[in-house]
Amino acid sequence: MHAVLARRQLNPDVTRLDVEAPRIAQIRQPGQFVIVRRAETSERIPLTIADADPVRGSIALVIQAVGKSTRELVALQPGEAILDIAGPLGRPTELIPSGHAVCVGGGVGTAVVHPIAQGLHARGVRVTSIIGGRSREWVIFEEELRRLGAVIVCTDDGSYGRKGFVTVALGDVLAGGGVDAVYAVGPVPMMRAVAALTRPLGVRTIVSLNPIMIDGTGMCGGCRVSVGGEMKFACVDGPEFDGHRVDYDELQDRLATYRQYELEALRCAETQCRLGPHLTNLPAAEGAHSAAKPAEPAVVP
Ligand code: NAD
Ligand code: FES
Repeated sequence: MHAVLARRQLNPDVTRLDVEAPRIAQIRQPGQFVIVRRAETSERIPLTIADADPVRGSIALVIQAVGKSTRELVALQPGEAILDIAGPLGRPTELIPSGHAVCVGGGVGTAVVHPIAQGLHARGVRVTSIIGGRSREWVIFEEELRRLGAVIVCTDDGSYGRKGFVTVALGDVLAGGGVDAVYAVGPVPMMRAVAALTRPLGVRTIVSLNPIMIDGTGMCGGCRVSVGGEMKFACVDGPEFDGHRVDYDELQDRLATYRQYELEALRCAETQCRLGPHLTNLPAAEGAHSAAKPAEPAVVP
């Protein structure tokens, strides 16, 4: 069992839980994630380790409440506990050894970019973070990132910082030259747009992918993505990949696979229907183990 030590609402949809996990707090590296199961009957949810405190023995999980399982998770209060946490999983971020890195975080993806910025800062890389949200209340992790370097905040409606998407600010920073690498985490259209900006300039770009994950061990095939024409499993080969080589169309399609199921599951939870989701024509997860339960899309992979 992993006790919840602290809970903080970061924006209307996103909650930070600091949970007890001493071993993971000691060995986790930037880019790695855990799979949590709140209770015996709960879905397995992949979440990036947004921060860790090895002295207190805790890790920070940032959760966007998008479906039934994530809503149950964010309802946890200090003193309650998560049944199990598996990890750290995934390959650590490939951090550049020196120079100037730009970390781009879109919405809840900003929490995923935070440990990457921490890792870069720790090795002396100059970090500029560009973070965005729909409006002021949706911007997260600004204070934490300011401790690591310059931060440019963007909001879609201009209610805080620069008006517009993060890619507008990124275009300006790239135009100034001297950027050695870009790390981008956020919605798929954002990562695609970042890659489109950096590709013609030949600036190395790493994106963190959030496909549906089930086992997190490379066995089920649920997290299959295409990178440079090759099939990869995000849980063991990633979750970070060369942003210039990712097939974003396929990723977007696969993320939509269980959306209808999720909506139905949410409706059942809200109406306390005991039959569970009753869709009859759900598509099967290609390559997934037949017994595997459809998972909700990874929130913070
Ligand atoms: P959002 O839709 O509110 O967007 C956040 C910011 O991303 C915007 O303010 C904007 O600056 C930028 N952005 C969005 N669309 C863009 C576009 N077309 N071009 C350029 N910039 C764009 O984000 P949200 O609701 O916080 O995030 C939800 C999405 O992020 C979900 O789809 C979720 O699955 C995904 N996500 C991805 C990861 C990952 O590891 N890649 C992690 C967490 C969440
Ligand atoms: Fe990656 Fe199952 S979640 S193979």
